[in-house]
Amino acid sequence: MITRLRLQNFKNFADAELKLGAFTVILGTNASGKSNIRDAFRFLHGIGRGYSLSEIIGGKFGSGGQLEWERMRGAMYEIARIQSNRADFLINLNFTDNANHYDYRSEIYNIDGRFRFAYESLSENGKSIFELSSNNYWDFSTLSPLPNSDLKNFEVTHNLERIRFHEIDPNAAKLASPPGQKVLGDHGENLPTVLQAICADPARKETLMEWVRALTPMDVVDFKFRTDLNGFVQLYLVESDGAEISAVSASDGTLRFLALLAALLGPNPAKLYFFEEIESGIHPARLHLLIDMLERQTAKSGIQVVTTTHSPELLSLLSDETLKSTSIVYRPPGRSDAIIKPVLEFPNIEELRQQPGLGHLHATGWFERALSMMDGKQAAE
Ligand SMILES: Nc1ncnc2c1ncn2[C@@H]1O[C@H](COP(=O)(O)OP(=O)(O)OP(=O)(O)O)[C@@H](O)[C@H]1O
Ligand SMILES: [Mg+2]
Repeated sequence: MITRLRLQNFKNFADAELKLGAFTVILGTNASGKSNIRDAFRFLHGIGRGYSLSEIIGGKFGSGGQLEWERMRGAMYEIARIQSNRADFLINLNFTDNANHYDYRSEIYNIDGRFRFAYESLSENGKSIFELSSNNYWDFSTLSPLPNSDLKNFEVTHNLERIRFHEIDPNAAKLASPPGQKVLGDHGENLPTVLQAICADPARKETLMEWVRALTPMDVVDFKFRTDLNGFVQLYLVESDGAEISAVSASDGTLRFLALLAALLGPNPAKLYFFEEIESGIHPARLHLLIDMLERQTAKSGIQVVTTTHSPELLSLLSDETLKSTSIVYRPPGRSDAIIKPVLEFPNIEELRQQPGLGHLHATGWFERALSMMDGKQAAE
């Protein structure tokens, strides 16, 4: 489980830290830096996949010219914090695996337009298991630091490899999928065959159907899978009166729920899922079911979920446990760098949680106002 992410000079963070739990929620106004945190996870995921720094940052194309990895937003010119006038950035990740604690640090420099590692280290339970500083990272034949991560030689890299990023699009989720595809695409592609794989396992199917019954207002009791003329698998939802309706005609909210379930319950699950605005397209009155599902699944399966949100309703629904890993990203006026503040660290938050409630505080911009006052106080001190 990833427990902490620290970003220095990365995107709009000068030095900020995100605490994570089984279910991590990130709030903040538009352009505060929520998706920049997602970019940091993408960077780490790229390292986990064994890509070179230039591939992670600039994009990677397969041998057939197809896009295998989308470049980082802003690519090489906007990965380090612009206002710092420095081309280096640091990422520090803490995680646990089989009761062991790991600390991964990397420091990246941009030298003559090329990103290089200046420092990379991994420690296990406080003991260094590898450390490469600029002394041994420096390639004296070219007088520049070496380009790629050595982390891929370590078993724990799989934790970073098994991160998935989803921004569900009902139009992608309703498409027929090629047979055998068991991994949900970033936008919900392959939904029919992922659900088919879940349904092939009676225990998984039972969990799936329980949540489908609870989450969808339609009375869906089963799924059918039909092969179309191209050999692709099309999804049909079976209602309690026996009517079958194809996914093409299913509602957007239903497809979103199904895609989230497919992501979390599908075979070969990831270690961590990053969702953007998980509430989008979901009626506020049904949001509690989604939160309940995410809290229960993450607590029992060891899967981690991180989501960004703009939803006051969602914030009001979070359990005590999830609130421990809920943070606000905030960019103080007149400052170029953003801070990350856990919700439970705000003054009087327990009382305010009872009355007027966290959702109300969020909807009225209370967190941002409180932070701007705290920031002013800090500046005055
Ligand atoms: N290299 C950089 N240096 C400084 N600031 C940057 C850099 N790259 C991005 N930013 C800032 O980050 C902002 C975008 O942040 P991000 O996309 O994370 O917002 P967000 O919180 O996800 O917002 P939304 O809710 O609208 O999606 C930009 O508007 C810019 O101000
Ligand atoms: Mg965003």
